[in-house]
Amino acid sequence: MNSDRGGLDEVSLHSFTHLDDMPDIADYIRALEIFDAQKEMQELKSIAIERTGVSSGTSILDVGCGFGLETLRLAQLLGPGERMAGIDKSASFIAEAQRRAAEAGRAIDFRQGDAMALPYTKASFDIGRAERLLIYLDDPERAISELRRVVRAGGRIALIEPDVETNTINVDDRTLVRRILRHECDVGVPNAWLVRRLGAMLEDLGFTGIEIATRVVIFDQALAAGYFAKLGVSARQAGVIGDEDLAHWTGAIAELRGRGRLFCTIGYFLFTAIRA
Ligand SMILES: C[S@@+](CC[C@H](N)C(=O)[O-])C[C@H]1O[C@@H](n2cnc3c(N)ncnc32)[C@H](O)[C@@H]1O
Repeated sequence: MNSDRGGLDEVSLHSFTHLDDMPDIADYIRALEIFDAQKEMQELKSIAIERTGVSSGTSILDVGCGFGLETLRLAQLLGPGERMAGIDKSASFIAEAQRRAAEAGRAIDFRQGDAMALPYTKASFDIGRAERLLIYLDDPERAISELRRVVRAGGRIALIEPDVETNTINVDDRTLVRRILRHECDVGVPNAWLVRRLGAMLEDLGFTGIEIATRVVIFDQALAAGYFAKLGVSARQAGVIGDEDLAHWTGAIAELRGRGRLFCTIGYFLFTAIRA
């Protein structure tokens, strides 16, 4: 079973669209760090690095880079004079990314901006990537078109996204689980089913050599307890479940977590492609 690292009760997917309105982003940073450390996520990231040909001499853009977790990691694979850039809508996350880059002694072009209108000239990068960004966007196709514009012909892209409908949890009441998880899938993010049409979207946008890798990610216990408990609260607020249901849900999660037996998963997908 996974490790237990304290409560993360305030984290919800919905908030990743307006992080700068949150009073404190510390829990979001921690949640992303914990999730990022999951073995299956690390495997997908390694496959992305291999398939996009990240190496000394390449220039890379990370769209929706957050506080630069993977951006900084990729920068270590490049030479000192090579271009690594990260862009994110959240000023607080970009400030944290800049702080971390300075601490690591890395010159990374971190800037605040919108994935829908990237502030780079065409064909500026060899590689473009986005991780857990597109499900939050109303128009992911436009963001991918923008990524296509700023990556050179023959360059590569890597997109890592979950299918939110594939969340699972070992609470025993199937009806309750289905009601709460379906509600989250329908309201948590604008594009919970995006990966089901992402391959076709890339083809239609003229990408070639599309490859897909998948992993089922097993949640860290503390992260799962905070995140899934919050889904119950959100379903209750929307009137999808009643007070008794919520009490059963939160009680079951606390009990499972207390015994180190909480088991939650989600399916993640990596799409890599060549910009023709
Ligand atoms: C779940 S976080 C993922 C961050 C990072 N990619 C990671 O994997 O750690 C989603 C990120 O998308 C950013 N975001 C949401 N909408 C955006 C937009 N229109 N343009 C740029 N970034 C956006 C959020 O600010 C947030 O940092």
